Amino acid sequence: MPPNFLPSSIVRAEGLEKTFATAGVGPGVPAVQAVDLDVARGEFVAITGASGSGKSTLLHMLGGITRPSAGRVLLEDTDLAALDDDGLAAIRRRRIGFVFQRYNLLPELSLEENVALPLVLDGATAATCSEAAREALAAVGMSHRAAHRPDALSGGEQQRGAIARALVTSPAILLADEPTGALDSVNSANVLALLQSLVRDRGQTVILVTHDPGIAAAAGRIVRMRDGRIVEIVPGGSAACATEAAPR
Ligand SMILES: Nc1ncnc2c1ncn2[C@@H]1O[C@H](COP(=O)(O)OP(=O)(O)OP(=O)(O)O)[C@@H](O)[C@H]1O
Ligand SMILES: [Mg+2]
Repeated sequence: MPPNFLPSSIVRAEGLEKTFATAGVGPGVPAVQAVDLDVARGEFVAITGASGSGKSTLLHMLGGITRPSAGRVLLEDTDLAALDDDGLAAIRRRRIGFVFQRYNLLPELSLEENVALPLVLDGATAATCSEAAREALAAVGMSHRAAHRPDALSGGEQQRGAIARALVTSPAILLADEPTGALDSVNSANVLALLQSLVRDRGQTVILVTHDPGIAAAAGRIVRMRDGRIVEIVPGGSAACATEAAPR
């Protein structure tokens, strides 16, 4: 069994590779190579590394946005490679939450309507949508701004809203690509603390991509990438705290 595997995994990458074709300008870009990774249920993992090291490409493969050139991703009991495009879209909609650097909230909708959108698109009843949206907004501490449109909110508040939108389907995994990249240091710290609380209080599995070592240190485990490969996996700050707090 490859070395990075854990017993109670929720997502597992096996021999994952991605080479991007470059239409006549060379042999293609090997963005991710030979990645084996196992993430346990309720774990907070940071993927870090320099620009171009393959972090986003790996995250997109874990989340079924990008199909690997080789290898496979298992999400709980589902082999993503075995799904057709519609099946993959359904998994992305229902079992995976995405958060990006840009919040991408729709300006003409209220925050609550934005948060409810994934369920609306999935055909849930109005009552289910609004109940789940309110619960997700409460989880990110934004209930008091539910009726506001995104342009009335700060960047940090919009990102909290985007996290609520990602949580509204109760996804198996929350994937976040540089979620603090557009925020100042205070709002970055708030969003990071929110992600930590989702892991701690709700058992949410979170995989966070960041080029910032200070942000990565908040995770339980840090995966370092270089030139498309995992070069190191080390415990992060929250794992260290947990170890210190444990009875001897
Ligand atoms: N669609 C694409 N077509 C061709 N090459 C790509 C494509 N997407 C990514 N790449 C290349 O793959 C490599 C890894 O890119 P990736 O976006 O995963 O890096 P990253 O670690 O997320 O970088 P950053 O910190 O700048 O976001 C880079 O060399 C990049 O240029
Ligand atoms: Mg990236």
